[in-house]
Amino acid sequence: MRNIILDTDIGVDDAFALAYAARTQRLLGITTVFGNVTVEQAVKNARLFCQKMQIDAPIFRGCSRPLAQAPTSPAALVHGSDGLGGVFANPFNGEADNAVDFIIRSVNAHPGEITLVAIGPLTNIASAINQAPEIIARVKEIVIMGGAFGTQGHAGNVTPFSEFNIWKDPHAADQVLSSALPIVLMPLDVTHQVLIGGEAIRALQQPVLEAISRSYLDYSLKKERFEGMALHDTLTISWLVNPAWFGCVRSPLRVITEGIASGQTQRQLTNLASRHNAFADCTEQRICLEVDAEAVKHHFLTTLRGA
Ligand code: RIB
Ligand code: CA
Repeated sequence: MRNIILDTDIGVDDAFALAYAARTQRLLGITTVFGNVTVEQAVKNARLFCQKMQIDAPIFRGCSRPLAQAPTSPAALVHGSDGLGGVFANPFNGEADNAVDFIIRSVNAHPGEITLVAIGPLTNIASAINQAPEIIARVKEIVIMGGAFGTQGHAGNVTPFSEFNIWKDPHAADQVLSSALPIVLMPLDVTHQVLIGGEAIRALQQPVLEAISRSYLDYSLKKERFEGMALHDTLTISWLVNPAWFGCVRSPLRVITEGIASGQTQRQLTNLASRHNAFADCTEQRICLEVDAEAVKHHFLTTLRGA
């Protein structure tokens, strides 16, 4: 069981990951960021979901826009108008203490003990290491849902080249992924292998999860002709539960920050000596490209089933 801070743009699959994290890890805090929704809506969603699922964790408000590029619109089509399927009235407000300060304060107070789990754009994480570079050596591990490397045809979900979390803030992603943080990256290459159908969700007998996922499943049925969802964000928690479920490669990482491939994640595929090596000063990181999908799904569904 790890001490974790969950950094999230809380949409539907983020909520599933949060429910799983609350039952398997020690949740020190939830930091919110723009992405699926505005950061204000993310604070509201985190408060509403934690209330409905009896999750006890402090909630913080993070960055509202990317580090450098112009903001892009939330993902209402997939996650619903409010990011949680638009099924519940939300009485909460979107104000909260500063998320980046909380990350810095927590990691400095407990060096080597805190795992960061980033399941939205990496703007909060980049801001934290820019403001307090000393935390890079003090984070126990950071598990990130993001990126795509084209194995089994999984090269992007928001453009043909890029995955949503990275595409939303490619400059922040490049700063984080090229840093010396101890990173485990969970890209579409593995997250698209772990799909759960509407039947399995309904069998959980978790009315809140069933309600918030209805619009996501409808969208998936219309777009992919499959009534189900990829457990993108949940796989970061699956890594913490049992890393043996994953097969990783090691490589330094960079992110393309402009042009038609903006948001594309790059791993080093050649050791060709070159004077123009964009990977030259980057730390070798772990990238999960294989997963035991059945084992991950089984543990997730068993853990979340019932009251
Ligand atoms: O590409 C999948 C990611 O984008 C997930 O984090 C999902 O919540 C969306 O934010
Ligand atoms: Ca997310």
